[in-house]
Amino acid sequence: MAHVYPEMDPDSVREDVEANFIKRLEPVEMEGVPLLSDTVKNWAEIKRFQARPDDLLLCTYPKAGTTWIQEIVDMIQQRGDAQKCARAPLYQRSPYLEMFPPKPLPSGLEEAEAMPSPRTIKTHFPVQLLPPSFWEQNCKIIYVARNIKDNAVSFFHFHRMNMGLPEPGQWDDFLKNFIAGKVTYGSWFDHVCGWWEAKNHYPVLYLFYEDIKEDPAREIQKVAQFLGIELPESVLKKIVQQTTFESMKENPMTNYSTVPSSILDQSVSPFLRKGTVGDWKEHFTVAQSEWTDDICTQKLRGTSLSFRTQI
Ligand code: A3P
Repeated sequence: MAHVYPEMDPDSVREDVEANFIKRLEPVEMEGVPLLSDTVKNWAEIKRFQARPDDLLLCTYPKAGTTWIQEIVDMIQQRGDAQKCARAPLYQRSPYLEMFPPKPLPSGLEEAEAMPSPRTIKTHFPVQLLPPSFWEQNCKIIYVARNIKDNAVSFFHFHRMNMGLPEPGQWDDFLKNFIAGKVTYGSWFDHVCGWWEAKNHYPVLYLFYEDIKEDPAREIQKVAQFLGIELPESVLKKIVQQTTFESMKENPMTNYSTVPSSILDQSVSPFLRKGTVGDWKEHFTVAQSEWTDDICTQKLRGTSLSFRTQI
């Protein structure tokens, strides 16, 4: 893999990143969707990104299980060889297309462009903002959706620890903003519904966090089949084992401990935090829960989409 990172001395990277320190910036709207301000600054370049026909795109609303599917996919592609997956942190193995971290760290775009094929690329874009070449090249796309309540709680804690996102404020205020789509990447409803519709026209495998949690072997087999890869039972077992919450939390190549704490402060909240279905019950009041359920019923009416908030 061609990477900018390995030639850099980690200490000097940390110092440089701290010197170009990251700021808790408010999102900036692009076509009505709040995005990271650096994504918007580099919009023209992102839009021109040239996808290749054998690219695989991993797409999620933030905190829906991106990291998990990134590791699952790489483990499948490496036929269960954990050593090969330890070659680099996830953000290098499947670059985050629209991420422009503080210099000298390379942008996701630079990382993706430098990568030999076949590439796996990560994005959080809603369907309408995806660079058009992904559609033109008919790339395979794996989408992971997570129920709104756990997704909102996870995003709340991520705002607390990610120094590039706005302060979340109190939980109640954050939840209101989240439901109103006034957070980075916009409306959860538009995101999950947009990609649900896209799967009728493009090669999109639409997965649910709750299903992966319930039966990882079944869902990993689905992914392998979508990628045209046959997994012997012994390999499948290894992949299930390597991608448990506990294994990934311990693994420096998946737990984001390689990112400076000036960007992701894991002493505030770990990147791999709870990894469960139903943690929302520790955060939502009965009134918040009923309000969210009502809005969900209204917004998802007319779609065949349904979510489980417990398993
Ligand atoms: P919690 O904050 O609820 O713990 P993303 O990767 O999209 O940023 O999503 C992060 C969320 O996925 C976090 O949720 C994280 O713990 C969870 N996650 C990551 N790896 C996981 C795994 N192997 N099993 C279950 N959940 C996982």
